[in-house]
Amino acid sequence: MHAFSSLFLLGACAVQAVLGRPDIAARVKREGDIIKRSVDSFIDTETPIAWRKLLCNIGASGCAAQGAAAGVVVASPSKANPDYWYTWTRDAALVFKGVVDAFAQNYTAELQTNIQNYVAAQAKLQGVSNPSGSLSNGLGLGEPKFMVDLSQFTGAWGRPQRDGPPLRAIALIRYAKWLINNGYQSTASSLVWPVIKNDLAYAAQYWNETGFDLWEEVQGSSFFTIASTHRALVEGAALAAQLGTSCRACTTVAPHVLCFQQSFWRSEGYIVSNINGGEYRNGRDANSVLTSIHNFDPAVGCDANTFQPCSDRALSNHKAYVDSFRSIYRINSGIPQGQAVAVGRYSEDVYFNGNPWYLTVFAAAEQLYDAIYVWKKADSITVTQLSLPFFRDLLPSITAGTYPSTSDTYTSIINAVSTYADGFMSVAAARVASDGSMPEQFDRNTGQPLGASDLTWNYAAFLTAAARRAGVVPAGWSAESGRTLPSSCSRIEVAGSYASATAPSFPPGGAQTPNPSAGPAPSPFPTACADAGEVYVTFNAHTTTQWGQTIKLVGNVPELGGWNTNNAVGLSASGYAANDPLWSITVPLRAGTAVQYKYVNVQSDGSVRWESDPNRSFTVPSAGAVGACATAVRDDSWR
Ligand SMILES: *[C@@H]1O[C@H](CO)[C@@H](O)[C@H](O)[C@H]1NC(C)=O
Ligand SMILES: *[C@@H]1O[C@H](CO)[C@@H](O)[C@H](O)[C@H]1NC(C)=O
Ligand SMILES: *[C@@H]1O[C@H](CO)[C@@H](O)[C@H](O)[C@H]1NC(C)=O
Repeated sequence: MHAFSSLFLLGACAVQAVLGRPDIAARVKREGDIIKRSVDSFIDTETPIAWRKLLCNIGASGCAAQGAAAGVVVASPSKANPDYWYTWTRDAALVFKGVVDAFAQNYTAELQTNIQNYVAAQAKLQGVSNPSGSLSNGLGLGEPKFMVDLSQFTGAWGRPQRDGPPLRAIALIRYAKWLINNGYQSTASSLVWPVIKNDLAYAAQYWNETGFDLWEEVQGSSFFTIASTHRALVEGAALAAQLGTSCRACTTVAPHVLCFQQSFWRSEGYIVSNINGGEYRNGRDANSVLTSIHNFDPAVGCDANTFQPCSDRALSNHKAYVDSFRSIYRINSGIPQGQAVAVGRYSEDVYFNGNPWYLTVFAAAEQLYDAIYVWKKADSITVTQLSLPFFRDLLPSITAGTYPSTSDTYTSIINAVSTYADGFMSVAAARVASDGSMPEQFDRNTGQPLGASDLTWNYAAFLTAAARRAGVVPAGWSAESGRTLPSSCSRIEVAGSYASATAPSFPPGGAQTPNPSAGPAPSPFPTACADAGEVYVTFNAHTTTQWGQTIKLVGNVPELGGWNTNNAVGLSASGYAANDPLWSITVPLRAGTAVQYKYVNVQSDGSVRWESDPNRSFTVPSAGAVGACATAVRDDSWR
């Protein structure tokens, strides 16, 4: 057992449910200080270990990643029971998102070399055909995991997983922004943007299709995936503008992704993490807490549309999520409401018998540190009816209201939430192995570490939680664009164009050192269309199909495959209903072009059935006629 353990358990038990009673405020403060000092010391010890172990899991030279290609994050060095000797697009992106944010705070050539290797590895990986498909229509980007040498994994798996491309885009965008801010804009444009562009195209084309969630178990719509998609599209549009290009698909689709994201909220006060297939679970899932921390934008305060960590929705959800574990793990027994407990993925979990995970415990802490950061910056805290139960657990007599930083209540809240957050760090600290290592999980009954050894994501999760606790936060991602929602949610999906990014060759790590004065002034978030000659034509085909059949569109222009059915554009059945069998896709076409096209029905065996003659034809309207962001609709019934 780790040396910290006894101290932590002592600290955690000493704080009974007394917080908020003014008569004993001094005692509470003292007990909070004990936990704080313990967490300070845990963080001091664990930080260098976490960095070392995280970097060990990155090829080609990482000490635990022998045999992995350069820039490849192995999920864990464990090759059996369980075998995690693969690279997951999601895990790798989340790890590198943290690495790039840390790098932007504190430049090192070692981290830069790793980041450059990651970009090069992902450029290659995008072009690797796999069981999900290939790059030609983007479908291959949804493949969840690959072999560590960057070849495809051909075994059965929960695929596709649609959070991989947007998360990778986000990690790469963070590095592209660093390059721009330090005067290396041409590197960002020529070497990083081509990779980001493919992932953004995927996000805009397939966001409204179902897929597997981040735990690779539920097929449906995942809150985490949808939120990651929204952020990537928003941040991608902002980056495109900075690079002097544009992503119209991003600005068009993003508001509708955020619109859909609202439907995961339940008026009972929590986020249901999986819908369109995940309803058999109670919905309280680390999925939602990870969403809040990974989409934290310190510039938008406690915005509820984007479920910011300090929003009343996210705090209410934090309570619902944490409470769902209070009675199910033996190691939580006897710990009163208002104190931190061990938390896992979701209460119905049976994987390895269903245990708490380190990374979910860190996430529970990180959300609270994010909230504290924003409250301190705003010099006030607002408690709403919705967030009141969360605060009442910590301060039983508190009422709804806005508390300025000059008030005693403000100070009590900051102290109580800090102690609560530190409590989660203590829970993890007590379960870390004596050498500081963290496998995937710890036992629900005994607290013993178990599962895949040295899970890379755990170290990244520890490091970001520790950084937020120290008041170190990432730059924002233009989340303010989500303050207003569309009046109704559309399913619009835009057909993308995909191109293999040649694996970039960067100037050697260390050559592109920080030079913040060379960066340009930030550009405003793009709202207008940059290309007036581009018209978004939505093709709606009403046709009843059988399971396994797909409707595609083929025509005389390159965007419609040049009459080659191998390059036909797939339509989406996400709006298909018995009373209106609708297949739909939006295709960017050039204004004024004379277009001929037909729909084809592709059978499950790959054979193609054509519509009858004649060919359909129309002329894409001129942009001037319909305005700067031009759109048109074709409404067709199969013939
Ligand atoms: C920055 O990185 C260097 C080298 O790894 C390290 O010694 C230093 O403590 C770091 N500083 C901060 C503020 O993290
Ligand atoms: C697609 O978007 C619509 C509108 O927001 C929503 O009702 C539907 O559930 C979504 N489906 C999927 C699979 O994302
Ligand atoms: C439809 O277009 C294709 C490709 O140009 C052409 O081969 C075919 O003859 C056309 N069909 C009719 C009925 O005109």
